[in-house]
Amino acid sequence: MTTEAKPQYSPGLAGVIAGETAICWVDPNAGLMYRGYDIHEMGDKATFEEVAYLLLNGELPNGKQLNDFKQQIAAERALPKEVEQMMQLLPKDTHPMDVLRTGVSMLAPFDKDLNDHSHDANVRKAIRLIAKVMTLITDGFRISQGQKPLPEKPELSQAANFFYKLDGKVPEDWKTRMMDTIFNLYADHEFNASTFAARVTASTLADIYAAVTSACGTLKGPLHGGANEESMKMLEDIGTPDRAEAWLKKQLAAKAKIMGFGHRVYKEGDSRVPVMREIARDLGKRTGKENWVAICEKLEEVMDREKGLCANVDLYAAPVFWMMGFKPELNTPLFAASRVAGWCSHVVEQHDHNRLIRPRSLYVGPQLRKYPGPPK
Ligand SMILES: CC(C)(COP(=O)(O)OP(=O)(O)OC[C@H]1O[C@@H](n2cnc3c(N)ncnc32)[C@H](O)[C@@H]1OP(=O)(O)O)[C@@H](O)C(=O)NCCC(=O)NCCS
Repeated sequence: MTTEAKPQYSPGLAGVIAGETAICWVDPNAGLMYRGYDIHEMGDKATFEEVAYLLLNGELPNGKQLNDFKQQIAAERALPKEVEQMMQLLPKDTHPMDVLRTGVSMLAPFDKDLNDHSHDANVRKAIRLIAKVMTLITDGFRISQGQKPLPEKPELSQAANFFYKLDGKVPEDWKTRMMDTIFNLYADHEFNASTFAARVTASTLADIYAAVTSACGTLKGPLHGGANEESMKMLEDIGTPDRAEAWLKKQLAAKAKIMGFGHRVYKEGDSRVPVMREIARDLGKRTGKENWVAICEKLEEVMDREKGLCANVDLYAAPVFWMMGFKPELNTPLFAASRVAGWCSHVVEQHDHNRLIRPRSLYVGPQLRKYPGPPK
């Protein structure tokens, strides 16, 4: 066996620069920038469409460009009837993330631009995906509940549409504004696991649907997007603020991973937490459910003292979605409804400057040995 110099190795690729991007910068000191704009400045002012346009095109839209973009998304929301039929065939208890992953995959052959990886074709497909991912989530959920999908209302923004397509009610303006802010916070996060998965897939020159299917599969895991569903289960289990400290200490003693805490990049706090915490406080007052934030705050205090670990955005996203009236299994799909803008922008960037992503592994298996021949 030939030997080679031991390559540098970082478990979990921690700290490894795996590529260049002009889309997003995560500042380990609790900052987040999209295309040079601080998310804290624009998060609660911009609409999700404005942020999605920025991620995808590199610049903020003017009024006409934004209007056109909104109309293009709204016009692309409807699913091929075959995809709707597929969702009817799935077991009713299929997790919404599995419905979404299957749906994105099935959309591919219905897109006439599927195998055109030019910049313009990729942007067209990105718009379709941003629109249809939401429909897969909302219509898929209604179908799983034995209800019919609702007719489209193209005048609604993505944020308002998410509420409407689930229960048929156009939300109040404050709710839409809140959802825009949440979508803006979740829209991109440089080389997070699902985006990286999308880029690896795209780097083989596979199509954008293949890449977004990979991303959906990766987002589902509880160490990534699935954490916002698991956090809600944890908060329900704790129940009241006075139980939080004892609950957490018991879990830590058992060496359990606490959902909604820790982050690979942020060590001084997640840039998105202060905004999400404020939204949770606001919703707590509006709904009379102020206990959830009190539990989260107690957990933050004890976790800091015991482990020096900070909360991440998913800790507060969980009660926010709960107080907005969503079932916990919709928490990760809500994340996907926004992050699809980031995934698609990264696929466009990857295809525009492609080089196959193919790292090495460090071999730790047996040394070369003789094959003893077929078993007797
Ligand atoms: C996000 C996460 C996967 C990052 O993992 P990572 O970068 O490998 O974690 P680190 O290397 O910083 O971990 C340092 C130490 O803190 C511990 N730790 C990190 N997150 C923890 C958590 N949520 N609960 C308990 N301990 C945790 C690790 O076990 C490790 O302890 P050790 O040194 O005794 O082995 C991890 O923090 C985690 O599992 N969090 C919970 C899931 C979650 O909320 N995910 C959403 C992220 S936005």
